[in-house]
Amino acid sequence: MSAATIVTPLSQGQPKRVMLLGGTGTIGRATARALVRRGHEVVCFVRGRADRDGTPGPSQSAGLPAEVIVRHGDVTDPQSLARDGFRGERFDALASCLASRTGVPKDAWAIDHQAHMDALQAARAADVGQMVLLSAICVQKPLLAFQQAKLAFETKLVASGLTYSIVRPTAFFKSLSGQVDRVKAGKPFLIFGDGAITSCKPISDHDLADYLADCLDDARRRNRVLPIGGPGDAITPREQGEHLFKLLGRKARFSRVPVRLLDAIVLGLGTLGRFAPSLAEKAELARIGRYYATESMLVLDPVTGVYDAAATPSTGTETLFDFYERLLAGEASVDRGDHAVF
Ligand SMILES: NC(=O)c1ccc[n+]([C@@H]2O[C@H](COP(=O)([O-])OP(=O)(O)OC[C@H]3O[C@@H](n4cnc5c(N)ncnc54)[C@H](OP(=O)(O)O)[C@@H]3O)[C@@H](O)[C@H]2O)c1
Repeated sequence: MSAATIVTPLSQGQPKRVMLLGGTGTIGRATARALVRRGHEVVCFVRGRADRDGTPGPSQSAGLPAEVIVRHGDVTDPQSLARDGFRGERFDALASCLASRTGVPKDAWAIDHQAHMDALQAARAADVGQMVLLSAICVQKPLLAFQQAKLAFETKLVASGLTYSIVRPTAFFKSLSGQVDRVKAGKPFLIFGDGAITSCKPISDHDLADYLADCLDDARRRNRVLPIGGPGDAITPREQGEHLFKLLGRKARFSRVPVRLLDAIVLGLGTLGRFAPSLAEKAELARIGRYYATESMLVLDPVTGVYDAAATPSTGTETLFDFYERLLAGEASVDRGDHAVF
């Protein structure tokens, strides 16, 4: 096996005018900052707070740099995209970190697929020549509705004639930090099986955002599907737990959850879900949980069906273990959003 490719930073191109979707999400906010740092003009098209969760309040611009222009509208409405978002203006590129917050089929097809289809259409009407899309490495083995929805849009983007960069990252720090508080509170670290069924190359929000922003100018990333992980070796859940205990100066303690238990939950909810839509959604969430308990977030060799850490490129400088250290020191916090299972 060859060592994983290390992605090198690149030189800066001309400033661009960029329409950013999903700018209020974890990676979207980091990407807005990365784009602004590079001197690009960024317009974020976001929904109002009331449209998100029914609560009145100020517009969703918290966490976005002051340089960003925030426009409000409905990304699921093609007319709003054109009227409130693009407004008939010139943009060089469309960047999207938009993603369903639940992953349940209806939302996934509405956001990960249809809203992107409509945004692509609006971008083409506005003569946009380039799109950078945040996708996910797991779409290479698409067993879940949200993966199928993402993949369906990826296919349409590739065929669209726009210059594209489809970025498929491995696991985010927020998805691997859910147990920090319970371990701090003296509880054992939960693992599926022996804790080494899966592994990933965690990538920080900042490093991923830099990688996404650099897609605008890097000719090597044009018209490519780009799996990407963070720096260092791939790590298993057991190694994450061991490191957390080491940082806390305690002996590692694990509680094993059998994958068979997840199978039973998936089967039970799946059966009941045929009669009750709310349980069908819960069944999909259980399938998502099972998927991440058993599938690695690494490049999958299509011939052998084996996940390959060495074939998964690395970028950036921030490691998960540094992040754990900062979390424990109270110098960082986790923004896990609504779908902690992703
Ligand atoms: N977590 C991981 O480890 C991981 C790893 C690899 C890839 N990924 C992929 O990364 C993506 C998630 O990124 P993230 O964590 O940055 O996402 P996030 O924090 O959940 O943000 C999602 C963004 O999409 C917007 N959005 C969702 N539904 C919307 C709607 N109906 N109308 C308007 N806007 C809507 C959200 O706006 P609001 O703020 O208004 O809700 C937010 O800006 C997913 O595609 C996932 O598959 C995740």
